[in-house]
Amino acid sequence: MAKTVVLNGGVEGNEHVDNVLFSKVDEWSELVRLSRWIGGFLLEMSKTGAIDLALGVGGKIEKEEVLSAVEKYEKYHVCFGGEEQERKSNYSDMVNKYYDLVTCFYEFGWGESFHFAHRLKGESHRESIKRHEHFLALQLGLKPGQKVLDVGCGIGGPLREISRFSMTSVTGLNNNEYQISRGKELNRIAGVDKTCDFVKADFMNMPFPDNSFDAVYAIEATCHAPDAYGCYKEIYRVLKPGQCFAAYEWCMTSSFDPDNQEHQKIKAEIELGDGLPDIRLTTKCLEALKQAGFEVIWEKDLATDSPLPWYLTLDKSHFSLSSFRLTAVGRLFTRNMVKALEYIGLAPKGSVRVQDFLEKAAEGLVEGGRKEIFTPMYFFLARKPDSENH
Ligand SMILES: C[S@@+](CC[C@H](N)C(=O)[O-])C[C@H]1O[C@@H](n2cnc3c(N)ncnc32)[C@H](O)[C@@H]1O
Repeated sequence: MAKTVVLNGGVEGNEHVDNVLFSKVDEWSELVRLSRWIGGFLLEMSKTGAIDLALGVGGKIEKEEVLSAVEKYEKYHVCFGGEEQERKSNYSDMVNKYYDLVTCFYEFGWGESFHFAHRLKGESHRESIKRHEHFLALQLGLKPGQKVLDVGCGIGGPLREISRFSMTSVTGLNNNEYQISRGKELNRIAGVDKTCDFVKADFMNMPFPDNSFDAVYAIEATCHAPDAYGCYKEIYRVLKPGQCFAAYEWCMTSSFDPDNQEHQKIKAEIELGDGLPDIRLTTKCLEALKQAGFEVIWEKDLATDSPLPWYLTLDKSHFSLSSFRLTAVGRLFTRNMVKALEYIGLAPKGSVRVQDFLEKAAEGLVEGGRKEIFTPMYFFLARKPDSENH
């Protein structure tokens, strides 16, 4: 461990003493560095997260039902012989099971915002996530006091950030009860519970009057819709005329070849690991937006000019202490921890299987990103025209 230090080229008699001294200093600082690293690692893994994770698996599902929910969820997917039509007709059941099962894993690994980000060099994962959220607020031109809708809001990480950043009131729409209960608690802790709220409903059929919101955004959520047109049409209806909708969509890109078996396998892994009925092409989303009546101001796959790959944190070749839990080593560590917690009965039976399909997702996402056949950040800014002739 100690490096040979040759520092003092001076007086002959003192050279040995100096070398020994500096060698000790060097050894000591290596030791301090190592113990800091181990300390950081232990702290990171022990921040009560493990217990919360174990107790949270299954969300609102009864703990003894978790294993059967996992089995039912898996059967919806191609990797387990499932069919696209089944996933589409039962999208509510499939997506709700998925988020009941995975939310605590997401919270453990990702924090409060469940999305990827355009990555810049020198920026931490968390900083990129926030910048990605601020970018949406900027594109929508949010003004203090405006009423904004977050479609498919998760546990409200982006909602809290965007609301505080832009001084707006944000309503989070989500059909998952467990996520809403977590979101309400986190809003209370963050002190935004007076300005932001949650509504439990399906984004294919929203309980809001026409022309209710000054702006609408969706972050990696409308990909769960069984039909993009139906979802965008609802967004169009609740948005005030002349106002904008911005989103980050999960899409297959124009490089995706539906006849390529490897591409199909990657798509199926992402669908299984992320609760998706069928990942649409970017061109299909664009068509659906226009069909719903929107004027598209601009659109772009932001992954194409992300200086660092958006999937970097999940990539096996990458290691980061600050986002350790998302790295391959961190995920392996989590798997073993969940295995132990399941074994002693603290985590429900089926917990490791959830971690396993999330691992499939990570593999599919990294491969999809590397081959540029998949993007989680097909961005668009679209406007509802002033006068409705649609
Ligand atoms: C990947 S998470 C993204 C959450 C959030 N936008 C974020 O970035 O943290 C997708 C979200 O969409 C929600 N969702 C999926 N299908 C939905 C539906 N039919 N109606 C309402 N919300 C839905 C899920 O419950 C989940 O909260």
